[in-house]
Amino acid sequence: MKKILVLSSSARKGGNSDSLANEFIRGAQESGHGVEKIMVDRLQMHGCLGCDGCKRNPGICCVQKDDMFPIYEKFLTSDVIVFASPVYYYAVNAQLKVVMDRTYGILDQLKGKTFYLITSGASPKAGPFYDHIKEEFQLYLDCFEALENGGVIIGENGMGRGVMSDRDKAEAYNAGKNA
Ligand SMILES: Cc1cc2nc3c(=O)[nH]c(=O)nc-3n(C[C@H](O)[C@H](O)[C@H](O)COP(=O)(O)O)c2cc1C
Repeated sequence: MKKILVLSSSARKGGNSDSLANEFIRGAQESGHGVEKIMVDRLQMHGCLGCDGCKRNPGICCVQKDDMFPIYEKFLTSDVIVFASPVYYYAVNAQLKVVMDRTYGILDQLKGKTFYLITSGASPKAGPFYDHIKEEFQLYLDCFEALENGGVIIGENGMGRGVMSDRDKAEAYNAGKNA
């Protein structure tokens, strides 16, 4: 049984990326994994200060004791971390980017973990519309030592809320089932 941490960052609970995250969770739970989901948009947290306080004092030592603080521990104790975000201007949304930036404080402590990105956009999958967010995710992982990219799950044509296709939901479910 794996420990899976899902960080869902859309402000729209039950929106498109969140509904795919829920499918991933359903699959993962059916496979017997333990899942904790956090709605990132509900948290009070600030961007990384770049103060390098975390580098001067190794461990979980970010100088900002805000809502990110307990999440550091969850990162460290999870086998699998799932980011779920809408596509905002070809990239992850600001709420998730804050979390990603703040992992600077635990850069050296995530070795061996598997990360997934679940995202949804208004664009179709055909074409280059998701190239940037896929690259953003991979380059983020490349900043760490020995992290595995479990996969990127994309929900397309997500203009309204809760409009993910059965095919994209099945992809998210299967990714969770096989996590
Ligand atoms: C600020 C903003 C920027 C967006 N930028 C893009 C974009 O670059 N590409 C895209 O396909 N969709 C874009 N969209 C559409 C959303 O990604 C899409 O509606 C998504 O399914 C919303 O997911 P959610 O329900 O999980 O919040 C944007 C929407 C907003 C509000």
